[in-house]
Amino acid sequence: MTVLWDPAQSALDTFRIALGDDLDLVAHGAAVTREVDNGGHHLVVIGPDVPAESAYQLAEQLRIDRPAVGVLLLRHRLEVAVLTQALRSGVREVVQADDHAALVDAARRSEALSAQMGATSGGSDTTGHVVTVFSAKGGVGKTTVSVNLAAYLASNGARTLLIDLDLMFGDVGICLQLPPTTSIMDLVSMTGHLDAQGMASVVQRHEASGLDVLVAPHDPADADRVPADLVSELIRLARTNYDYVVLDMPPSMPEHVLGAFDLSDLLVLVSTLDIPAVKNLRLAINTLDALGASQQNRLLVLNRSDLKVGLSSKDVEAALCYPVSAKLPNALSVPAASNRGMVLAVDNPKDNFAVALREFADHKVRPHFGEEPTRSGGRRIHRRKAAK
Ligand SMILES: Nc1ncnc2c1ncn2[C@@H]1O[C@H](COP(=O)(O)OP(=O)(O)O)[C@@H](O)[C@H]1O
Ligand SMILES: [Mg+2]
Repeated sequence: MTVLWDPAQSALDTFRIALGDDLDLVAHGAAVTREVDNGGHHLVVIGPDVPAESAYQLAEQLRIDRPAVGVLLLRHRLEVAVLTQALRSGVREVVQADDHAALVDAARRSEALSAQMGATSGGSDTTGHVVTVFSAKGGVGKTTVSVNLAAYLASNGARTLLIDLDLMFGDVGICLQLPPTTSIMDLVSMTGHLDAQGMASVVQRHEASGLDVLVAPHDPADADRVPADLVSELIRLARTNYDYVVLDMPPSMPEHVLGAFDLSDLLVLVSTLDIPAVKNLRLAINTLDALGASQQNRLLVLNRSDLKVGLSSKDVEAALCYPVSAKLPNALSVPAASNRGMVLAVDNPKDNFAVALREFADHKVRPHFGEEPTRSGGRRIHRRKAAK
């Protein structure tokens, strides 16, 4: 149950004898956390050619988020400076890459420690689920889907935070008619030392659903002042405080969006039946693949799926190579509701769009995390925590 982070495919053969057959190789640091969560791994070995700074960064992150997961660092040569820095960042041991006997011993010690810390129950079961709603084109329904999904999950008792990461033109606050008081801008000064209290001080409550919301800057000119590091720090903190963290995205991939993708457990890709939306989403998927993002954690949602515009859902599936997980109908009630600050999935559960959205949440999103669906219309207290 070990993740080996090494850019070279041949590393698998080199280290298999020391680390055993139950070894998953990843080429990018971003994929390590996901592998750890999905595969229930409790040992991460970082190859000798991974830059030291990237290794320290990952070790620091895992130490906070998944303390029972052990990190071993391989280096071609052992140097005091590296040892000091590595141990300071949370690496359990630094081992010379060609000393396989030392690696076997270090792995055994780390496994024993992880077992004592309870990691053998499999992965991190203390973190919430990060669900990211994305499309590469504006106006296809990202905000509509994320607001309805998040509010519906919250109304069923799941502690849910919706973060508007469309930093320039975010309109979650307006859709929910929240007063323009706090925003993510108020967290900028806390970058690097954000804590739960700081986060709680800027979150607003949507009373009708029980959803917590963190809105985008009120002035588009402030978008550039929100560091990508803060966004990642915020998501990591949020998932230790909520059952679900839903991220509404801009139709582009700036640095903070890429950071959020890395931390996402589920990516909801939204498309409509028009060629620009499908084409841009195809390009975005190609980029995600190239970055090493998990291909399993994606669900495709077709919004306004019943419009007769000469393109069918089969065409979209063929172009994107994903099955459509939900078909959300075109409905005048959608803009009408958002103009009145209402959330259809909560305020008007019999509406056609609301029915389809709730079906998606209950039968695709929750089961993705091993949770059972709620019975339609029923409020329930979210049971924390099913296996990933
Ligand atoms: N299924 C739908 N039926 C009718 N109108 C919709 C539907 N989904 C979204 N809309 C409307 O389309 C517009 C763009 O939706 P929005 O969710 O803001 O898109 P995005 O966040 O992708 O830019 C909004 O006015 C919204 O009310
Ligand atoms: Mg939007």
